[in-house]
Amino acid sequence: MAILRFHDLGIELTVGDPKSVLEAALEELIELRHNCGGLGMCTTCRIQVVAGAEHLEPPNDAELRRLGLHRLERGWRLACQTIVHEDLAVRLPRYA
Ligand code: FES
Repeated sequence: MAILRFHDLGIELTVGDPKSVLEAALEELIELRHNCGGLGMCTTCRIQVVAGAEHLEPPNDAELRRLGLHRLERGWRLACQTIVHEDLAVRLPRYA
């Protein structure tokens, strides 16, 4: 069991079985854009990890390709590719 905190929304979710940040958000009706449907192809689901990055799997090929090293180094990940195993805090992007 893990706690997923949406830093800028002030929302904390309890995540039982490991699942993606996107799946956990959508289950709780948190609006998180996902234009490609979670296939790792669009980057609209990007999130910035605020705490707990040490518990995450390394970025996969989709994240490397879509976000690039400069964004990954600043904590950005794709919510559809980021699996919550341990406590994690994230921030959502500000859309124009
Ligand atoms: S939903 Fe498109 S990259 Fe995650």
